Amino acid sequence: MLLIRFFGGKGGVGKTTLAAAFATAQARRGVRTLVVSTDPAHSLGDVLDTSLSEEPRAVADDLLAAEISGENQAERRVAEVLEDARHAVPREVLPAVERHLRRAVDSPGTVESALLDRLTGLVERTGRDWDLLVVDSAPTGHMLRLVSLPELLTPWIEGLTRNRRRARDIDAYADGLLGERGAREERDPLLERLHARRRRLDNLRHRLRTDARVHLVLVPERLPLAETERAADRLAEAGLPLGAVLVNRVAADAESGVLARRRGQERAVLARVRERFADVVTVPLLPGALAGVEELAEPAEWLADL
Ligand SMILES: Nc1ncnc2c1ncn2[C@@H]1O[C@H](COP(=O)(O)OP(=O)(O)O)[C@@H](O)[C@H]1O
Ligand SMILES: [Mg+2]
Repeated sequence: MLLIRFFGGKGGVGKTTLAAAFATAQARRGVRTLVVSTDPAHSLGDVLDTSLSEEPRAVADDLLAAEISGENQAERRVAEVLEDARHAVPREVLPAVERHLRRAVDSPGTVESALLDRLTGLVERTGRDWDLLVVDSAPTGHMLRLVSLPELLTPWIEGLTRNRRRARDIDAYADGLLGERGAREERDPLLERLHARRRRLDNLRHRLRTDARVHLVLVPERLPLAETERAADRLAEAGLPLGAVLVNRVAADAESGVLARRRGQERAVLARVRERFADVVTVPLLPGALAGVEELAEPAEWLADL
């Protein structure tokens, strides 16, 4: 049993629906499951027919759900860093630090890395507070950046740690010249936090490579296929294991007319998908509204062996 499942793909292909359907089906089998949406265009609450927030809450037996956002987490992190800075920098530069941090909160990089922080926290609780984590992620590009962020951040944190050490050594040297002692022995909350963050990212990266699978979702059309192929390449580069590719909204066979022609094109795309990917699962075009735990049972049938 794989503990962490990402559902990724273009907007509108059915990520949220299939992630929610898979999660509900697993919960029904008695697997304690958390389904969480990281897509800024949250619709998981709509699909589960309930309202969700940052904190996981029970929505059915053995099923928890949450919608997490980078913005909220970024705000919390600014508060933390400011608290550290209060001890680490002279009081007169604090307003400048705060201004800098506030600007940083508005940058996409900060929001994404904050989202990663939040996700890291949930990954850490997987296996303890719940056994399965299902992530309804944002469209492909966003998800790829999210899962490769540990890779990108590690050199950055190493650089920061080195600079910080150098600065502290210079301080200690200067203190020595002035005959003051003990600066080096003092705790450095900033450095400690950087190290803690690195350890967490290393763990996350390891966890994602061993316990996670990414399910790319697409509809059987040419453009989504091209994007799925690119996403699969980039996931492979990032060392992230691909799970079954999900082809959603496959139309039924039709004798004639537009639907028959459409079906012909779909077949061609499906053949390409099967050529390129070893593990392919199809989900038919379904008639239901596909909202609420009951309705989700229908698409879930197709995901039983995921
Ligand atoms: N297999 C399916 N058959 C019919 N409609 C579907 C199917 N899968 C998803 N849908 C519908 O397609 C729309 C987009 O699905 P959604 O899960 O929100 O996509 P995404 O999360 O990728 O943006 C929703 O209205 C959903 O009910
Ligand atoms: Mg969605």
